[in-house]
Amino acid sequence: MYSPGLLFAIACLPLLGVVGQKTLCDTECQKGCDAACQAAIRGAYEAESRSWVGDVLTDPFFVTTNTSSATPGDLIRWQDIPSSQLANNWTIPASLSLSRFMYVTEDVDRKPIPASAWVLLPFTATGDGCGKKLRTVVWTHGTAGRSRQCAPTNNRGLYYDWQAPFVLAEMGYAVIAPDYSGQGSDIPQGFMYEAGFLHAADAAYSVVAAKKALGTLLGEKWVVFGHSEGGMSAWRTNERMAMANQEALKQAGELVGSVAAAPALRPQKLIPDSMKRAGNGPANDPFSVYFLQSLSKLYPDQIKISDYLGDLPLQRLGVLDQSCIITGSAAVGNFTPTQLYKNLGWLTHPATDDWAVRYNGQGPHPLAAPMLVIQGMADTTTPANLTMADFDLTCSTYPESRVHARLYPEMAHGQVLEAAKGDILAWIAERFEGTPVSQGCSKENVQPLTDRYGRDGVFWTASVGQF
Ligand SMILES: *[C@@H]1O[C@H](CO)[C@@H](O)[C@H](O)[C@H]1NC(C)=O
Ligand SMILES: *[C@@H]1O[C@H](CO)[C@@H](O)[C@H](O)[C@H]1NC(C)=O
Ligand SMILES: *[C@@H]1O[C@H](CO)[C@@H](O)[C@H](O)[C@H]1NC(C)=O
Repeated sequence: MYSPGLLFAIACLPLLGVVGQKTLCDTECQKGCDAACQAAIRGAYEAESRSWVGDVLTDPFFVTTNTSSATPGDLIRWQDIPSSQLANNWTIPASLSLSRFMYVTEDVDRKPIPASAWVLLPFTATGDGCGKKLRTVVWTHGTAGRSRQCAPTNNRGLYYDWQAPFVLAEMGYAVIAPDYSGQGSDIPQGFMYEAGFLHAADAAYSVVAAKKALGTLLGEKWVVFGHSEGGMSAWRTNERMAMANQEALKQAGELVGSVAAAPALRPQKLIPDSMKRAGNGPANDPFSVYFLQSLSKLYPDQIKISDYLGDLPLQRLGVLDQSCIITGSAAVGNFTPTQLYKNLGWLTHPATDDWAVRYNGQGPHPLAAPMLVIQGMADTTTPANLTMADFDLTCSTYPESRVHARLYPEMAHGQVLEAAKGDILAWIAERFEGTPVSQGCSKENVQPLTDRYGRDGVFWTASVGQF
């Protein structure tokens, strides 16, 4: 799979924008990809790479040092981004301040590993207490891809822009967002996709590390809010903070709530569902390929990609390894389930069962703090029935849990963040204000005002200008 040709191609990438069809889709890839297919991949890549700030592989910020003797929560590197670069290298709205940092988090064996993150600060402090301490929200992002280029810190809009980070910062929150270890930082096992138990550590330690640079600016309370993979991570963070032996993570302060939007909780259940829904049509499921890739790196003796992935998608892995979700979708999204996988046996493999518990953190588990679950009823990526199965499991096993689920009719995976934004912001504000939440679980079917509301997703792009 990792052919010498591909390694050569990566080493020789002169500039991101000029990666040609030869290097992106190599000779093997081209065998099953005609001119139109190659043009689609190249076009997606050109558009996608324009959203990158720089090249993670050469930007000195992303150089990963040896952290074997460091302590989780240590700050390795901190960079305040100069004002002049905010609207040019990135597309950060006026008034906000951006820093990026490299810090130490922990692996599944609790050994120190590096991660990168960004922090956005509002224009002025409107937070809590006499010192006007900022209220901290950790934003846990959804699937960006599996390669290091996909680190949100390297994304001009910080990946998700107005869907969460910019809005939160303009509302006065300090927003801290881990890239997750291995997505940005360089670790041998690569980015551990969907490893929620570890992403929870990435979230908590990003606060511990940021406090070392921001000193007394941040208050004691924090909330974690995420979508999709990050929705799962927000849920897992809430669970992990209730577990024993998490004292080091608790240096982050008091977790007062988590918001799990469209959470991708159990990939072993999401993937068969997605294949069933696709029938004989396109599976639109690059996520499952990233998951298989990551599993094979964590369990190399037990999970071999070529035992499961179809022959054509197998030739596209080189494309996936150099790009992110937009190009990944162009490269493997059109395969039908039978083209994509020879069989789905890897989803019930003992290694995957082990992964589910130790890396993803699947429970049920009790929660440390109140949780808001946000779910669109038209979501085909993380369907409502699967999210609500976990809601029911948590609530029946731990009836004292404080969980409220809001269900949004006809909203799809990304769209639900727009419908729920006001509800989420109000809920987060109440947690910082200390509004009590009674024990028990509840769910609410949200009623739309009209039936002519937008259903389609819209991606915003930025341009610099004055008015
Ligand atoms: C990191 O440093 C430790 C000792 O501090 C050493 O044993 C280990 O080999 C180093 N790892 C790498 C990848 O250089
Ligand atoms: C921002 O862009 C300038 C000009 O291309 C470049 O010199 C600088 O290194 C960039 N900064 C970052 C942090 O990428
Ligand atoms: C979830 O619902 C879909 C239909 O919307 C169905 O095909 C699928 O089997 C359901 N999954 C489970 C686990 O109930």
